[in-house]
Amino acid sequence: MNNHRAKRLELSRRFALKTFGAAAISGLALLPASRILAAPVFQSYPFQLGVASGEPEPDGFVIWTRLAPEPFEIGHGMPAATVEVEWQVASDRRMTQTVASGTAYARPELGHSVHVEVAGLEPNRPYWYRFTAGRERSVIGRSKTTPAIGQPLDRLRFAVAGCQNYEEGYYTAHRYLAAEEPDFVFCYGDYIYEYRGNRIWNHSWGPMETVRQHFGDEIYTIEDYRRRYAQYKMDSDLQAAHAAAPWFVTWDDHEIDNNWVDSADQDGTASQLFALRQQMAMQAYYENMPLRPSALPIGTAMQLYRQARFGNLVDFNLLDTRQYRSDQPCNDRWGVVCDDVWDKDSTVLGDQQERWLYEKLGNSQSHWQVLAQQVMMMDLDRNPGPDQTENLDSWAGYRTPRGRMLGQIEELGRKSVVVLTGDEHQNYAGELHQNGQQPGAAPIATEFVATSISSRGDGEDQRRDTSAIQEVNECLKWHNANRGYLICDVNAETWTSEFKIVDKVSTRGGQLSTRQRMVVEAGRPGSLAEA
Ligand SMILES: [Fe+2]
Repeated sequence: MNNHRAKRLELSRRFALKTFGAAAISGLALLPASRILAAPVFQSYPFQLGVASGEPEPDGFVIWTRLAPEPFEIGHGMPAATVEVEWQVASDRRMTQTVASGTAYARPELGHSVHVEVAGLEPNRPYWYRFTAGRERSVIGRSKTTPAIGQPLDRLRFAVAGCQNYEEGYYTAHRYLAAEEPDFVFCYGDYIYEYRGNRIWNHSWGPMETVRQHFGDEIYTIEDYRRRYAQYKMDSDLQAAHAAAPWFVTWDDHEIDNNWVDSADQDGTASQLFALRQQMAMQAYYENMPLRPSALPIGTAMQLYRQARFGNLVDFNLLDTRQYRSDQPCNDRWGVVCDDVWDKDSTVLGDQQERWLYEKLGNSQSHWQVLAQQVMMMDLDRNPGPDQTENLDSWAGYRTPRGRMLGQIEELGRKSVVVLTGDEHQNYAGELHQNGQQPGAAPIATEFVATSISSRGDGEDQRRDTSAIQEVNECLKWHNANRGYLICDVNAETWTSEFKIVDKVSTRGGQLSTRQRMVVEAGRPGSLAEA
């Protein structure tokens, strides 16, 4: 082997090690290294999409950025070459005490994103990080390691957010969320929306003007998805929320297409064709999220369900209710319930994920077990009247797997299970009951549904149908339809969910308030009440 080839192979090996870890290296080592630019010169600022961190563990986390000097152009203003990016992690806000540093490679295949797995840090403390490429430097982000697993932990305080339609409102709530510097953020999905740009949208109040518009048509190609993420990520309020805390992200439907499940979209597109769109959407999702390199999609498969543990206090099970789910029943998203909601073969999590979850629930040594997921688990009748009307894109359309899961929670003797949900664009707090359980029976678990950051525009405190819905749904303990996010403040005895709302998102400068605090005691799912 000549020197030149040996050097190229070494570079390729180094890249693979840093990017994919030692386990994956044998397969990647033979890839030829592409052109590497060590000291690139940029015509405009390359860190316009901000920085992020995610997947915190006791000894580290992922730090992310994506070089995009021209975010909206095909190729995002970058050469078709790999670019060196220096990264630095410090123990102080001003970055004077460096504790870890290195070189990452922003590759054209991955939209010039970098996902660095930082390790060797101390548990349960904040760190700060930044990137340098050529002579350009990113802003400084704050992250935080998790407490040592199994060790006593007094308190965990984290945020739950998602559903951030760019056209329907400003991200003011994200700016307030950033100021709270939570231990972490759980994003339940709908990070982007795939729809075309619109000047007018249909609110329940009538036609409304969008506050800002998506570029272009509905998104299908990798460049479309990249540009959509770029448009969202250029929002400085969203950048602030990423720069304030590590995120655990999961997707719902709009990261790919409205109401997709498994290999089916909502339009009946041939699955081979939808698979092409899925692959591109999944790649763009990976490129733009602070995920571990092990989440890199393979074809139309992406490993997103996973567990995070916080001392001896909380086991956090992040679920994927889209990728393995059977098709929605009764031909509708919202509709009158038909017999198909009892389909014995239906599934929400798929066999493998379901088994994984029961094992995690069974083995848990923590005070609380969390199911962090996308769509509502409570069985809410949305249309008080003779016909039971439900959101059939939620667990309500899947009674068999829902009953099996609640049965497992009971059988395992778990009485401190909390389900965290998004998707509804409304705040809900309620109790989870077994299918057909009589009103007044002891609930099995507690569900908190967080509203949207911006989707559906300015909300309202109580919708017209709120009191009627509460009357026919005894499991529902509180409801509100403003925009905002959820803060969960947890200790060994109690779980407090603070519903944070902003009074408007149609103009900038909305005011924040804590609309409600709902508390549930550990071991007593029937104790859910206003604080
Ligand atoms: Fe949404």
